[in-house]
Order: sequence, then structure tokens, then C-alpha cells
Amino acid sequence: MKKRMSGFLAVLLCAAVLLSLFPGCSRQAPEKVEYLIGVSQANMRESWRLALIRELKEEAAKHPGVRLIFTDATQNSDKQISDIRRLLACGVDLLIVSPCDVKKITPVVSGVYKSIPVIVMDRVVEGYDYSLFIGPDNRSIGKQAGESVLRMLGGKSGGVLEICGSASSQMSGERSEGFQSSLNQNPNISIRKISIENESRDSTEDHLLQHKSQLDGIRVIFAHNDYMALGACRAIEKLGLKNIRIIGVDGFTGENDGIGLVQKGMIDETITCPTGGREAIQFSLDILQNVAGVPKQEILHSHKVTKENVDAFVENLNKPQTAPPKTIRVGYAQVGTESAWRLANTESIQSAAKEFGIQLFYENADQSPKRQIEAIRKFIAMKVDAIVLSPVIDSGWDEVLREAKQANIPVILSDREITVQDDDMYLTFIGADFVEEGRRAMRWIAENAVPANKNATIRIMELQGTVGASPSVERSLGFREILQEYPNDKIVYTRSGDFTYDGGKQIVEEYLKTHKWDIDVVYAHNDDMALGAAEALEKNGIAPGKDVKIVSIDGTKNALNAIVSGKMNCVVECNPLLGPQLMKAITDLMSGKELPLRIITDEKVFTKENTQETIKSRKY
Ligand code: AHR
Repeated sequence: MKKRMSGFLAVLLCAAVLLSLFPGCSRQAPEKVEYLIGVSQANMRESWRLALIRELKEEAAKHPGVRLIFTDATQNSDKQISDIRRLLACGVDLLIVSPCDVKKITPVVSGVYKSIPVIVMDRVVEGYDYSLFIGPDNRSIGKQAGESVLRMLGGKSGGVLEICGSASSQMSGERSEGFQSSLNQNPNISIRKISIENESRDSTEDHLLQHKSQLDGIRVIFAHNDYMALGACRAIEKLGLKNIRIIGVDGFTGENDGIGLVQKGMIDETITCPTGGREAIQFSLDILQNVAGVPKQEILHSHKVTKENVDAFVENLNKPQTAPPKTIRVGYAQVGTESAWRLANTESIQSAAKEFGIQLFYENADQSPKRQIEAIRKFIAMKVDAIVLSPVIDSGWDEVLREAKQANIPVILSDREITVQDDDMYLTFIGADFVEEGRRAMRWIAENAVPANKNATIRIMELQGTVGASPSVERSLGFREILQEYPNDKIVYTRSGDFTYDGGKQIVEEYLKTHKWDIDVVYAHNDDMALGAAEALEKNGIAPGKDVKIVSIDGTKNALNAIVSGKMNCVVECNPLLGPQLMKAITDLMSGKELPLRIITDEKVFTKENTQETIKSRKY
């Protein structure tokens, strides 16, 4: 009895301590808390983070029953780890974390994710052990700044001063990479780079006043945030320098924030860096209420705001959402019918269009980029409301997409990405992270394949998809990124099977004509090629799945059945069911809502341990 009493007292004491640490750590009065959400912030001093907290609070206030508890890691990873532990002890239902240091926080997030959902914000942790990542694309922000520099210099030569944040900041490193990449081919531009450790307005101003010579010959300044841009603006004014253009980043609307500075003509441009706070709360509720279709990553859009478009930008921010038009007409340029994945993808898009009441015009390009270009021109002539493009290959789209832009028709990329000179050519991308798929395939091989030869070398045959298609390029890249960590594993034969069953089969048959079978693993960029290869192996007396490991990507029912029957070993999922997310995005767009830059789908890895339960419900 005494023991039980002291246990009870300990629990009470613990609860009292937690309550004193976190006043919000209670589900009771004044109103019942249905969802307790812990928010672990890297710090609460940077203005961007304060804006994020504001947005999280504003959105949470719209949902009675949601309570937020905040912790401030003061930019110290050890503190962040103990903050997260305290939040867990408090019984939070979901954790929102914005990591100080990605490397140190990754294992902690993986651990938490085993018991509750985790939304990672701003900086993505390594691997896929989290529910959702929401954040900006810092490389693209830097790239956009570089494009603005080129425009401001108008083809003339000039010096550019890049004012970065803390030298150890991942965000600043990524912005700088993007910035330099868009300028480094221009020999007339010389970039001077400085770092302001605490990223503040006053330190930037003081620094430039103390190091005036760093402004010699400078015609444009790119500061990695609007506060440093304002500091630079003040220093220039005090030094009496003229004709230096300034670009900042963040684009908040307060008086001394980027938008206000552009309106007052103090800086020339700000590139918006949304916080994603509103989305984080909305997705938290979707996750906690098991709503289907939550993506794995939502990468937010950044916009250039200049004195020419600032008024329209502000007006747009305050514009209420409208009802979408009665009939939305969408042109859909699909790759072809090369694989079971593709058929499921088409079916998903067509049936979701029906569900959403969208009129869909479908064109099957039969793997021909030329036919896709013709299809897009046809849609432009039809004056559709939006075009969905699933591009066969990743290049060659500039001209036709410029035509779509001139006709004011938004283009959404589905499934595959493209390389274009100007990223403004399309609005958003919805699909998978092909690089990560390749990495996952190789990680499985590294952990599971056993070499048959004495030299302990794993000999890999790679069956690539269509040449020049983004899944082929990126699945190769991701695979090789991990492969290089295993010097004993080697790709000894690579051929393209064009993502088809026959293609996979032929590669193995060709190989066997000139070689004795000496391959440990077949890595196929899709299931159809893997299944074709398996058939060819069996015909030649080699047992797929046993004599040779078979790893592929997609997750079709046939491939999952092959895992169960032991003919394949691992399938990295690539989700073809993009229809509902695509149609929701189109409807949102037509209602005046801003779409993210990229929506990346959630995917699993299947092996004999976890496949059976999925087969029953798998429709493709
Ligand atoms: O673009 C996605 C790829 O295209 C799928 O993995 C493959 O099966 C398809 O043909």
C-alpha cells in the first residue's frame, strides 16, 4: 500500500513539474484539449522563426481542441534533444520540429517517429523516418536571386556582394549554392561573399561601416534575409553610396519587413520564404485524423517581389478564396502505356477527375516527346484551364511551355520533373522522390545481398528505364550515391529496357548470349523490367530471388506477388495513385489558392517481411 502510495505521489510530482515547465501541458480546463501538439523550435530569436510561431498559433486558434506547447532550443542541439524528451513526457500527440542541427536531430526524430507522428519543418532530417516535411527550397531561392542579379546588371559587368548568414547554417549554404550556380557561367560578374554570424540588421550595418572597402565596385547586394538587406541599406546610405541595388529574402509584410522595404524603395527586391506554419497545423490535423493523401514532403513556393509587382502581391495576399469555376477543363499529356505502373497512374488520374467533376482531355504520347509537344499545343488551342504534363524525357520543353505561359495556361508536372531554363514555366510538381528511391534500393542491397564469388564483390546488373527520363536519371544517381560507400559492390552491366517487360527480358537474354551468369543482384528501375528479367532467368535455369537477388521500383501487385513467391527480394514503392492529389491541387488553384512548389508522395519499401498484408488491398 505504502509502495503504491509513493508511486502515486511520484506521478503527481512528475505531472506538477511538467505543468510548471509547460503551462500548456494539460488536456483539461479551460477547454478540453483533443490534440496536444509539441513544437520544438531551433531558436526563438530569428525573425523568420518568430513569424513561423505566429503563423502556427494563428492557425491553431482556428481549431478548438488543438493546443500547442512550444520549446526553444536556443540553437543548441543538446537542449533540443532534452526539449523533445520533455514534450514526449508531456504526452504530446504529434511533434513539430524545426531542427538546429540535422545530423544530431535525425536519430532523435527517427526514435520519436516510432511512437507518434512527426512533422519536420524548415530543414529536412536524413532518411525518411518522419511523417511529413514542410519547408522552402533554399537552392531555388538562391537561384532566383542570381537571375535577378543578371536582370539588374542588364548584361553589363559588375561586382556582387553576397551577404550570407552564419557560416555553419545549412540554409545559407544552400542559398549560396543556388546563387552561385546561376551566376558562375558569367565571367563579367565577380562575387564577393561575407558571413554575418548572427544574421541581424545591426551586425550587417556595423560590419559594412567597418569594412567599407568590401563595397568597392559593388553594383548589387544579395543578402540572405531582409534584415541583413536593411542593415546593408542603412550602411550604404550612411556611406553616401549610390546606385547599389539590394535583394533580400523572406518577404514578410510588417513595416520593416521585406515587403514594406520594397514598397518604400529601400530595397529593390525580396524573395519570399514562406514559413509553412498554416500548412503544418492543417496537416497535423489530417495526420491525427487519419485523412488519406498526406504527402511526404511539401516544398513551398518562393516569389520575387519587386516595386513593379509589390502592390499586386499584397492585394493577392488579402484576396479571399473564391469558389472554383463550375467546369474546369484540363488537358492531360501522359507518357504512354509502357508499364503496369503507368496504367494505374492513368486510371487514378481519370477517375479522380470524374470524382472532382473536372473535364479531362487525355492524350497518350506512346513514349514520344514529339507527340507530347503536339498534345500540349492542342490543349493551348483549346484554351483549357490547366495542363497536366507527365513528361517522357526531362529536356526539350522550354519552347512549348513558353507558349503555354503566354496563353496564361498553368502547367502542372505530374510524376516526372523537367529541366528548363526558367523554373517559372511550370507551377508545381506532384510525384515521387526518384533519387531517394534509388538510394533505398542500394541500401537494401548493401544490407542484404551476399556475394557468390570469392572476392566478396557484389556484381550488380542495372536495368535502366527510358534514356533521358527523370526516373532513369535520378534512380541511377541515388543508387550510385549509396553505392560509392561500398567499394566492394559494383555495377558491372547497365542497359536501358525502356521500362517495359520485354525490355527487361531482352537485356538478360542478350547478356546470357555472351556471358556465363555471374551476377549477384539485378537492380531494375521498375517492376515490369524486373519481372521480364526474372522470366528470362528462369528459362535459363537460374532461380530469380535465390540464385540472384532481384530489386526493383514501383510496387505493382505482380511484383509484390513475386516477393511472396520468393522470385523477387525487394521492391521500393513508387506511388502511381497521384489522381486525387492532382485534382485537389487543380481545384485549389482554380479557387485562387497558392500551390506548393513540389508535393512529394509517401512511399514504403517491401520485402518478404511486410508484403503480404499490402497485396490484398493493392489495386494495380
Ligand atoms: O515515371 C515513373 C516510372 O514510369 C515508373 O516507375 C515506371 O514503371 C513508369 O513507366
